[in-house]
Amino acid sequence: MLNKIIEIAKEAGEIVQEGFGKTINIEFKTNESNLVTQVDKASEKRIIDFVKKEFPTHGILAEESGETKNSSEYLWVVDPLDGTTNFAHGFPIFSVSIGVQKKGLTIAGVVYDVMQDIVYSAESGGGAYSNGNKIKVNSNDLLQRALLVTGFPYNIAENPENAFERFTALTKASRGMRRLGSAAIDFCYVANGVFDGFWEIYLHPWDICAGKLILEEAGGIVTGFGGESIDIFSNKILASNNRIHNQLMEVINKF
Ligand code: IPD
Ligand code: CA
Ligand code: CA
Repeated sequence: MLNKIIEIAKEAGEIVQEGFGKTINIEFKTNESNLVTQVDKASEKRIIDFVKKEFPTHGILAEESGETKNSSEYLWVVDPLDGTTNFAHGFPIFSVSIGVQKKGLTIAGVVYDVMQDIVYSAESGGGAYSNGNKIKVNSNDLLQRALLVTGFPYNIAENPENAFERFTALTKASRGMRRLGSAAIDFCYVANGVFDGFWEIYLHPWDICAGKLILEEAGGIVTGFGGESIDIFSNKILASNNRIHNQLMEVINKF
């Protein structure tokens, strides 16, 4: 199953790469910041066609076309292009993210960093990999020495959830904060030890599914802001190398 997910993530990634830097058709979803391009749609169609052919009984939850409900215990959770704003503006950080759940638990996940040609992958209980090489979180245990990453939801202008207050406080409390623009890649950069922690509000299941498993399999932890366990439908996520998790929670819960 994992090899199949990698195969289709790379195929979809080729579609994305071919479209990068070309004139593309941009449409708005909820507002002028929330974009969808023909490349998001073409990538998603390729993935859905693949799943329907290879695993015809499986269910699919995909960002641009919603959920195909059926009675299967398997669900493919698909973000055909995570980082559409970067993609549309010519900034080369974006990914294809595909997680597969069985009875509500993620059993396999792949995040394909298209422009760097890096496949992050994990199977439940089998560790996490970057292009086939095992990865693990770093061992930093001090928030002051941590490099963090975050992102903002498209409704940030109206959202009352203190994202900027938290951003300021965590930037001051850590060594620095980055904002890459692809949540799936954010998880993977905590998994491979580059970043120490990641937090965001109002992510969607397709942003979370594969990256969460990859990070957990690399020895990291993904919870809500209170440390509670979460599923892919949760709207606040706090992810880390585990060791700085409590320190992150202390700051994030001041707001
Ligand atoms: C977005 C990216 C971004 C995050 C947004 C997501 P999209 O996904 O993951 O990093 O901050 O909240 O919606 O729309 O490019 O698939
Ligand atoms: Ca996304
Ligand atoms: Ca997307």
